[in-house]
Amino acid sequence: MTTKVWGTDDLGRSVELVTLQHNLFEATVSDLGAVLVSLKVPDKGNRQRDVVLGYDTAAQYFNNYETYFGATVGRNANRIENSQVTIDGKTYLLEANEGQNCLHSGPNGYHTRRWEVKEKSASAVTFALFSPRLDQGFPGNLELTVTYKLTDEGLEITYTGLSDADTVFNPTNHSYFNLNGQGSGTITHHRLQLNASSFTPIADEKSIPTGEIRSVKGTPMDFIQPKEIGEAINDPWEQLQLAKGYDHNFAIDGVRGHLNPVARVEGDESGIVMTVLSTLPGVQFYTANFIQDEKGKDGAIYHSREGFCLETQYFPNAMNTSAFESPLLEKDVLTTLKTAYLFKGESHGNV
Ligand code: BGC
Repeated sequence: MTTKVWGTDDLGRSVELVTLQHNLFEATVSDLGAVLVSLKVPDKGNRQRDVVLGYDTAAQYFNNYETYFGATVGRNANRIENSQVTIDGKTYLLEANEGQNCLHSGPNGYHTRRWEVKEKSASAVTFALFSPRLDQGFPGNLELTVTYKLTDEGLEITYTGLSDADTVFNPTNHSYFNLNGQGSGTITHHRLQLNASSFTPIADEKSIPTGEIRSVKGTPMDFIQPKEIGEAINDPWEQLQLAKGYDHNFAIDGVRGHLNPVARVEGDESGIVMTVLSTLPGVQFYTANFIQDEKGKDGAIYHSREGFCLETQYFPNAMNTSAFESPLLEKDVLTTLKTAYLFKGESHGNV
């Protein structure tokens, strides 16, 4: 593990880069936003490739309100309709940042916070954040931690939350992956398998789910058998047209509370295979539809569909949708959520 000063953010705070290592894996994270800055994994020739999109500077991550590259998103990932939630009979107003709606908890996201480094070792680091009562509009003083840990198989991200009043706890990691290496072009030829027999259709371009949980059968959303991400992405099908590609929540098949398989993705050129597992019930599969000429790391310029996100989460707008499992964190109950991004190339066995 190495730690170095990265620079200062817009508030003049000094921020660090922490690099974790284990076997041929290397992850760099920062106390600014508990963000994942790079993730290097071996390809089929045992050459390390950085498989996440990102930026070079702390200032870019601090101002990252559009792409959320690598960000730890909280308290609530994804959208809340009309920027309001009702908890224990009381309505709390959040800050709208996408029309009337609240995306990724509004303009004061956790990616702008300086987290405390609570514990660190060669292969793991735990960041802690205190999010006071009415932070972003939510009730409850919330203590949360995010742990990044490299293992023999890849990267595990564990979140804990503890609040002194009932609140919302729905964090995610917003990394964009390109398994051929960041900055290497389109991801449309990656093969994806999604362990989801249903998804939550969106009502319109604002991307709030209708509340229906619909079967993927016979639709472009069917990734039960692996297929190329790009196979049906341009189909003239309403759901894809509304979002300009994939930008939908899928309901993960599995047993609630278990670390269930979510997805398996293969980089077509690198031979890198990523398997995602999570204890969360949903995953937002997003094909970077809205990215245009975005200046990234090491001189890369990213375009639409040059990365994909698998944001594990409670379903979007679940606090206002009775058919969706609630992301309510009960007062004084310590909750642990976990997502793992595991890598097995041809050179290192099968999952
Ligand atoms: C959303 C996208 C949004 C992206 C970046 C994703 O979680 O679903 O619509 O463009 O985050 O904010």
